[in-house]
Amino acid sequence: MAERRGRLRGAAWAACLGLCGVALALLAAVLVRAYVLRPPPGPRLWERGAALGFQLSARDRQELKEALRGAIKIQTVSFSPENQNTTALAEFGNYIQKVFPAVFSTKFIQHEIIGGYSHLFTVQGSDPQLMPYMLLAHMDVVPASQEGWHVPPFSAKELDGFIYGRGTVDNKNSAIGILQALEFLLRRDYRPRRSFYIGIGHDEEVSGHKGAMKIAALLKARGVKLSFLLDEGSVILDGFLAGIKKPVAVIAITEKGSITANFSVEKEQGHSSVPPKETSIGILAAALSRLEQNPMPNLFGHGPEIMILEHLASEFRFPLNLIMTNLWLFSPIVSRILEQKPSTNALVRTTTAITMFNAGIKSNVIPPSAKAIVNFRIHPSQKVEEVMSACYICSPIFFHHEICP
Ligand SMILES: *[C@@H]1O[C@H](CO)[C@@H](O)[C@H](O)[C@H]1NC(C)=O
Ligand SMILES: *[C@@H]1O[C@H](CO)[C@@H](O)[C@H](O)[C@H]1NC(C)=O
Ligand SMILES: [Zn+2]
Repeated sequence: MAERRGRLRGAAWAACLGLCGVALALLAAVLVRAYVLRPPPGPRLWERGAALGFQLSARDRQELKEALRGAIKIQTVSFSPENQNTTALAEFGNYIQKVFPAVFSTKFIQHEIIGGYSHLFTVQGSDPQLMPYMLLAHMDVVPASQEGWHVPPFSAKELDGFIYGRGTVDNKNSAIGILQALEFLLRRDYRPRRSFYIGIGHDEEVSGHKGAMKIAALLKARGVKLSFLLDEGSVILDGFLAGIKKPVAVIAITEKGSITANFSVEKEQGHSSVPPKETSIGILAAALSRLEQNPMPNLFGHGPEIMILEHLASEFRFPLNLIMTNLWLFSPIVSRILEQKPSTNALVRTTTAITMFNAGIKSNVIPPSAKAIVNFRIHPSQKVEEVMSACYICSPIFFHHEICP
């Protein structure tokens, strides 16, 4: 009996030591990774830009600001693919010619108007062996009603160091920023070694068929191959990720896809004095509720979102830095935390948003039909078919869908 107890105790000790060994090994691995993944000392790659010797004077800054403000005031609104403010689109073309004279008068820059209002610049570098790249932006904006604005949306008013107006962040900031940077560089006798293209589209907000797609077709017909392309990206996030003090400029390398699904239930019309067990509204509401209650799977680690955390790992304060440098171990916890806020939840899964619900015609009539619209934004690692089949499982009722480009 005593011998058996001794053996048992021995086994317990061995198990405990084994566990402690595993725990220690894990701790060591966590610390080693936290140390190894620290950024190397010295300036980061993006901090070496100073080597260009590019200093902005106060006058340059003022000029840049006024260039953006002038652009915001032009009401380049896209109402629909067929309805754009073409007067404003044409005015925008004249405006950039006036504001960026060096860009338009330099011999090694070719300017073309595509699709009526879009602009393509070809900047010929001195070394034709280098593969060109491309910078993209768009000049059109979505409509702006007067409500909800501190200042009129096309006033470009400056308040407390911020410029307010439609297009300040989407996307005249890029369009003007790119052209102004080139203008400043040209005035400093800059000629790039590597050729590049600048494309400024005029109908991005309503599909881009007339602008970006025509530019793409033209470059393809010319046999142009690009080494890389930078398009309208993300914003600088300040206070977005708990545990990081510095603002973070996120480089968007993918865009979530979008499916808009129409759900509808048709029933016979009747009188509210003799109601059926279920009405079209009741059926559809239950189906939509099931959709909401059963979110698409958390796919943290399957898409590019994990790269944000990996890249920023060493910028997190202790002990978050230990966690972020060791996502191989902690990603189940991190993925749960990211789910908590709508903004970070959208990073880790296909989101489900019920955006419209229309039903009923009169207070004493059993509604003949109920309709709803649900917008899904698809996680980059998921396929449209997977989202659609999940829809069927939760809500096996009739629905149509549209897949946006
Ligand atoms: C179109 O743009 C022009 C020039 O910016 C502006 O005067 C006009 O009010 C705009 N029209 C609409 C319908 O937005
Ligand atoms: C879905 O609903 C919207 C809004 O009611 C409508 O414009 C669209 O044509 C519908 N799509 C399909 C495929 O039924
Ligand atoms: Zn945009």
